[in-house]
Amino acid sequence: MEKTGNGKRENWGSKFGFIMAAAGSAVGLGNIWRFPYLTGENGGGAFIVIYLACVLIIGLSIMVAEFTVGRRTSLAAVGAYKTTDRRWTFAGVLGVLSAFFIMGFYPVVGGWSAAYIFKSATGLLSDPAAIVDTFSAFTANPIEPILWMLGYLVVNVIIVSKGVKGGIEAAGKVLMPTLFVLLIFISIRNVMLPGAGAGMEFLFKPDWTKVSGGTFLAALGQAFFSLSLGMGCMITYGSYLNKKESLPSSALQVTIMDTGVAILAGVAIFPALFAYGMEPAAGPSLIFMVLPTVFAEMGGFGVFLSIIFFIAFTVAALTSSVSLLEVVVAYLIDERKMERKKAVYGTAAIMVCTGILSSLSMGLMSEFKILGVVVFDFFDILTDKIFLAIGGMFIAIFVGWFMKKEDLKDELTNGGTIKFGLFEIWYNLIKFVIPLAIAVVAFVGITSIEQTSLMIFGLAIIVVLAIFSKKL
Ligand code: TRP
Repeated sequence: MEKTGNGKRENWGSKFGFIMAAAGSAVGLGNIWRFPYLTGENGGGAFIVIYLACVLIIGLSIMVAEFTVGRRTSLAAVGAYKTTDRRWTFAGVLGVLSAFFIMGFYPVVGGWSAAYIFKSATGLLSDPAAIVDTFSAFTANPIEPILWMLGYLVVNVIIVSKGVKGGIEAAGKVLMPTLFVLLIFISIRNVMLPGAGAGMEFLFKPDWTKVSGGTFLAALGQAFFSLSLGMGCMITYGSYLNKKESLPSSALQVTIMDTGVAILAGVAIFPALFAYGMEPAAGPSLIFMVLPTVFAEMGGFGVFLSIIFFIAFTVAALTSSVSLLEVVVAYLIDERKMERKKAVYGTAAIMVCTGILSSLSMGLMSEFKILGVVVFDFFDILTDKIFLAIGGMFIAIFVGWFMKKEDLKDELTNGGTIKFGLFEIWYNLIKFVIPLAIAVVAFVGITSIEQTSLMIFGLAIIVVLAIFSKKL
C-alpha cells in the first residue's frame, strides 16, 4: 500500500467526531437552499417521496460503498481507485474535478449567506418591499459579494489547513450541534404561525401532476449532492476512519441526519411562506428573497429569526465546503506528496479564481455564456445533473465488479467481528440495481433537459478523462 505524504495517516479522533464531520459534509446548501426550492418547484410531497426513495435505496448504499473503499485503501479518491485497478484512475480524477466545479459556485452562495447575517443584523433587510431589489443589487455588485466570498474561503482555508482532527473534526463537533439547535428553534416558531397548516400540507401532501422524467433526475441528483456522494468525498472521509467503527451504521446515521435536516429546513420555510401568502416555487431565490420578506413581515422578532437563520445556513455551508476542499487537498497529499498547508493554499487560489468568475456572472458578466449558461450555472448544472450521478454509477460498478466480494464483506463486518445482516441485499443493489437505475434515470433526465450541448460537453469530459487517465 502506498504511503501518505507525511508518512502516517491522520485519523478522526472519535466516532462522534467522524459522524459530525461526515454529517457536516452532507448537510449544507443542498439541504437548506436547494432541497426546499426543488420541493417547491416539483410538487411538494410528491418530490419528497421520490427523493426519499432515491436516498434510501441508492444514496445510502453508495455511501456504504464509498466508506468501504476509503477505509479499505486508506487513500483518498484517486489513490483508492488507482491502487485497486489503474484503469479506474479517471473516476477518481473526475471526483477531484467535480470538487473544483462545486467549489466554483459554493463559496459564492456561502458568501451571500454570511453577508445576509450582517445585513439582517444592521436592519438592511427590514423593509419587505425592498428585499427583492436588495438581493439583485447585492449579487450583481462587482465587488461586495466577492469580498464576502473571499472571507468565506479564508475560513475554509484556516479549518482545512489545521488538518483532519484539529480542523475539520473540531469544526464539525461545534458547528453541527449549533446548526441543529438553530433550525429546530426556527421550525418550532414558524409552525406555530397562524395559517402555517397550508405549508405543512404542501410539504407533505403529494401532487403527482407535477412529476415528469426530469423530476426523477432532479431527485437523484439532489440525493447525490445532498449526501456528498459520487465524487469521492465520503471515500476520503472514510479513509481517515479507524477499523473499529461500523461502516453501515455510520452511513445510516449520516443519511438520517442529512434527510432530517432537509425536512426540517422545509418545515422551517414552507409554513412561514404560506402563512404570509408567498410563492413556494420561487426557485433558487427562495432563501434570499422570499424568506427574508417573510422575516421582515414579522417585525422585530423576524430580524432575530433572520440572523439566526443565516448563521445556521452559513454554518451548514461551511462544514460542507470544507469537505470539498479536503477532497482536493487529500489527493495532493496522497498522490503528489505535497505538504498539507501548501496543498490547501494552492487549491484555494484556484477556487478564488473560479469563485470570482461565478460571482461576476450574476452581474457584470451575465452576458458571458458557456454553452448557453452563465459561469455560475455551468459549474452547478454540470456537477449536479451529470458528474455526481455518473460518478455514483462508477463507484457502484467499481465496487460491485472490480472489488472482491470477500474483501467487501471483511471490511463491512470489521473482519467478521460485527454483523451486517443486509450484506447480500446491499451487494446486489450495488452490483446490478443501482448502476442500471442510474443509467436509466440519467438517460431519461439528460435527454429531457434543455441544455443539450452542456450535457454532451459534460459526457465528453468524462470520456476524455477515461482515455487519458493512465498518464495521471
Ligand atoms: N452535501 C453538501 C450540501 O448538501 C455539498 C457537498 C459537500 C457535496 N461535499 C460534497 C456535494 C461532495 C457533492 C459531493 O450542500
